[in-house]
Amino acid sequence: MLLEIKDIHVHYGKIAALKGVSVEVDEGEVVTLIGANGAGKTTTLKTISGLRPLTRGQILFDGKDISKVPGHKRVLMGIGQSPEGRGIFPGMTVVENLLMGAYARRDEVEKDLKEVYDLFPRLAERKDQAGGTMSGGEQQMLAIGRALMTKPKVLLLDEPSMGLAPKLIQQIFEIITEINRRGTTVLLVEQNAQQALQVAHRAYVLETGAVVKSAEASALLNDPQVRAAYLGGGAEAAAGSGD
Ligand SMILES: Nc1ncnc2c1ncn2[C@@H]1O[C@H](COP(=O)(O)OP(=O)(O)OP(=O)(O)O)[C@@H](O)[C@H]1O
Ligand SMILES: [Mg+2]
Repeated sequence: MLLEIKDIHVHYGKIAALKGVSVEVDEGEVVTLIGANGAGKTTTLKTISGLRPLTRGQILFDGKDISKVPGHKRVLMGIGQSPEGRGIFPGMTVVENLLMGAYARRDEVEKDLKEVYDLFPRLAERKDQAGGTMSGGEQQMLAIGRALMTKPKVLLLDEPSMGLAPKLIQQIFEIITEINRRGTTVLLVEQNAQQALQVAHRAYVLETGAVVKSAEASALLNDPQVRAAYLGGGAEAAAGSGD
């Protein structure tokens, strides 16, 4: 198992955001976490990348307990994250942003840059444009590209489709599939559950800080409860809750 999250508890002050979450990601998989606003998806990713401390539980990466390893060392170990809200450097050019992803290493940087440009031709066209002046979708590509420049074994993606036009959403999911096909394991957080379940091998459903369901992604796509709650189908959605 590449990544094992074992019964983690995470607090913000007195608020328990995660109350015993367990998730496993095997090498080569695309695994998705779905769930409503505030369920704890971002917190789970931040805890894996070391941005939040855990109060209980364990995170194993490549069999090693990394629960207390600082975030920058986790990047070097092979955990790459494209954060929610993108987090690019607005005053730096596209290529400078990408090279920031590779700051900790010198090897094969040109080759990796070429691969990122190959996945995202738009970034190659705009390599000298300031990151902050790129459109929302382009900044999303830049954030994913920068995470790829860290050469991750596992890529953590937090809402890569957020705020994108439908055509671009489609494209982002295709690129995620391609990144996985080229050998990178992916842990994907999405509110766009339909598309996430279509690209993922397996999925976990989070509700208020706990996993309430996990299964093959294709099984969840056909699960009536999941359909009603997250895929805009089923009786509840048809009745219209006004939510
Ligand atoms: N910095 C913080 N301080 C206090 N509470 C926080 C903080 N960050 C998150 N929380 C709380 O922790 C819970 C989980 O938040 P989290 O951001 O992980 O949810 P999420 O599943 O990513 O939601 P969304 O789909 O809206 O992004 C929420 O109740 C949230 O209000
Ligand atoms: Mg979130």
